[in-house]
Amino acid sequence: MAKRLKQHAIWGRGSFILAATGSAVGLGNIWKFPYITGENGGAAFVLLYLVCVALVGIPIMMAEIMIGRKGRANPVTAMSNISSDIGSTRLWSIIGWMGVLAGFFILSYYSVIAGWTLDYLVAAIEGKFGGLNGESSNELFNTLLADQSRLVQWHTAFISMTALVLMFGVTKGLENAIRFMMPTLFILLLILLGYAFTTGEIMTSARFMFSFNIEDLSWNSALLALGHAFFTLSIGMGAIMAYGAYMPSTASIGKTVITVAVLDVLVGLLTGVAIFAFVFATPGIEPSSGPGLMFVTLPVAFGSMPMGTFLGIAFFGMVVLAAWSSTMSLLEPGVAYLHERFGFHRISASLLVAGAAWLLGLGSVLSFNQWSEQELLWGMNFYSCLDFFTTNLLLPSGGLLTAIFVGWIMKRELSAHEMQQDHPRLLAVWRWVLRYVSPIAVLAIIINLFFPIATRLVAD
Ligand code: PFF
Repeated sequence: MAKRLKQHAIWGRGSFILAATGSAVGLGNIWKFPYITGENGGAAFVLLYLVCVALVGIPIMMAEIMIGRKGRANPVTAMSNISSDIGSTRLWSIIGWMGVLAGFFILSYYSVIAGWTLDYLVAAIEGKFGGLNGESSNELFNTLLADQSRLVQWHTAFISMTALVLMFGVTKGLENAIRFMMPTLFILLLILLGYAFTTGEIMTSARFMFSFNIEDLSWNSALLALGHAFFTLSIGMGAIMAYGAYMPSTASIGKTVITVAVLDVLVGLLTGVAIFAFVFATPGIEPSSGPGLMFVTLPVAFGSMPMGTFLGIAFFGMVVLAAWSSTMSLLEPGVAYLHERFGFHRISASLLVAGAAWLLGLGSVLSFNQWSEQELLWGMNFYSCLDFFTTNLLLPSGGLLTAIFVGWIMKRELSAHEMQQDHPRLLAVWRWVLRYVSPIAVLAIIINLFFPIATRLVAD
């Protein structure tokens, strides 16, 4: 019989939705989504991405929460207990392991980039954006990237903020923090949107984001859309599973997941519309379509707009909150595992996992300066490799295994029992999609991505 844990904390009503949305909404929505949409055909890409969210993201997220809530433990223990309960091999706990590892790897570099947003928040408060032009803004950003000690300092600050919340525990730490952070984030977004309306450029911005350019779509866009759906919904890696363990049994999993997905997509779209409205309202700058959009173009806009300092603070404040609520969920699976499996106190567990991720993060810090040209694999440096393998391999294969486990290995009655609150017809559709559509889509994408690489290797 599998080792049982004493029942741990269960969150109050609404906290799970806030926490899962906090995990989902992050740099992926605010930093990545607007520029990859711009680069990949605008509305056509958004459409592709919505299909991925509906057919792969939502069903897998439901499966993850179901496992977390049924197992009432960290992802490794939950998977191990459930698989032994249903008479299957405990090897399935690999899903939990992959989740804990993916969270750890992503945290290491995510915290470095989240650190830049702290630097920019401070710059906004100090009024440093005033009078910036394209060139001086570029220089400001490049100076930051070249300054290793400043990058390490912000990376340390960010990962410490994350560990601090988790040290206080599941209710006093995570739940309380999330109940304050998410409403604040939404208020800041509304303020930014409200202001964007007053610029008179909302329509230009919407046209820019939603113009349908089918010719810009490529196979690569499909890969990107699916990878992004995984990343932005935080699925394929124990985060949502770990949070599922704290979800009340009476809540409906289906409704919760749909709410989280809608909020996540909305935040991505609305921030994009606001960002481009600010950019279009600023004479002399173009909506650059690369990673520099947030750190180079936008500060120029804030520097020349009326109330720009206030808006800059609101914007970077919002990004810091979004990134912070995401890093908390990246750290939680590892911390919960050490705490529940080996009896570590949450303080020591948080320090240990965050410390190790901090150390690995130094490699990403160096990737933006000293190691930027150092090729580790297939033309990618250390940071790009970590990002590539986690987003394109670890998350999708974690999701694929989860879909197979819940769709094919677990009996229908068992999952139906855990999801009693959901409508039987919704459950039937969910199970069918999880069995047939999600795994095939994910597999096709993984093969499509790695087949050309493998053939190239063989040919070499
Ligand atoms: N969903 C987050 C974002 O869009 O920025 C990133 C993320 C958080 C990915 C947590 C994975 C995860 F488990």
